[in-house]
Amino acid sequence: MRHFLDINATDTEDLKSMIAQARAMKDARAGRPKGTPDDELPLKGQMVALIFEKPSTRTRVSFDMGVRQMGGETMLLTGQEMQLGHGESIADTARVLSRYVDMIMIRTFEESALHELAEYASVPVINGLTNRTHPCQIMADVMTFEEHRGPIQGKKVVWTGDGNNVCASFIHAAGQLGFDLTYTGPDRLDPDPEFVAEARAKGSKIEIERDPMKAVEGADLIVADTWVSMHDAPSTRERRHNLLRPYQVNDYLMKGAKEDALFMHCLPAHRGEEVTDSVMDGPQSVIFDEAENRLHAQKAVMRWCLGV
Ligand code: CP
Ligand code: NVA
Repeated sequence: MRHFLDINATDTEDLKSMIAQARAMKDARAGRPKGTPDDELPLKGQMVALIFEKPSTRTRVSFDMGVRQMGGETMLLTGQEMQLGHGESIADTARVLSRYVDMIMIRTFEESALHELAEYASVPVINGLTNRTHPCQIMADVMTFEEHRGPIQGKKVVWTGDGNNVCASFIHAAGQLGFDLTYTGPDRLDPDPEFVAEARAKGSKIEIERDPMKAVEGADLIVADTWVSMHDAPSTRERRHNLLRPYQVNDYLMKGAKEDALFMHCLPAHRGEEVTDSVMDGPQSVIFDEAENRLHAQKAVMRWCLGV
């Protein structure tokens, strides 16, 4: 029984084997209606609780479909409709849920809530996004990059805009999987220095470059995310937009990267803000492959957690 809490807390070999398994499972389902089960049903008889304390489209639907394809069942819960949202402790919630279900996926606010849940649960816990990290997204992103361009090791990824939770998991992956990452954005929104130092100590080149045109030179992949995350106070919107406007990904910026550079965005996107329509819908964009690969990557993550 293993928790999947963060990419920097997961062995490199395990990350690679999950991505390989995700690709194999995707290939094995090619052309099949999405609602039909896989040939193998490793989650048969298993119940997975999916807890959301924030909105979600991709995480919610991809986990639900992934469990069903592998023969299991899901229970969708929101914090507000559970006692968790009305004062019951996370530790008690973890111990109670562990008596009913075989695995828990949670999307929550504070990272400490995820860690407390994992500490007290006797079943695997999966991080479906916190204010600080989003590891399942980056499993899908690495899988997507490798499908299109081969091994990500040694490549250059450029993160544009807010050094947020998704950026943090990308930096974790750089350290674990041996690629380089340049952050380009305003200094007030820099990524967590602890994560930057950790990835550097593992041998990855992690650079901070304020000039977006300089940052994208030689890039194999350019990534954008929303300028205002779910945990950011709405009152910060205008200030964030003013700070981040110079970092919009548009055709001009894409031209500064390698000719065959890919564009990714975890979605939901705010078209016309962090990225233009022409990039989102252009030939370098792999955004919908990324979204699809959430399904396949998370199926491999769930199998790893349960050891099945
Ligand atoms: N990328 C992502 O996690 O999307 P959702 O918020 O829709 O789950
Ligand atoms: N950074 C975004 C990602 C959404 C999937 C947020 O946390 O809202």
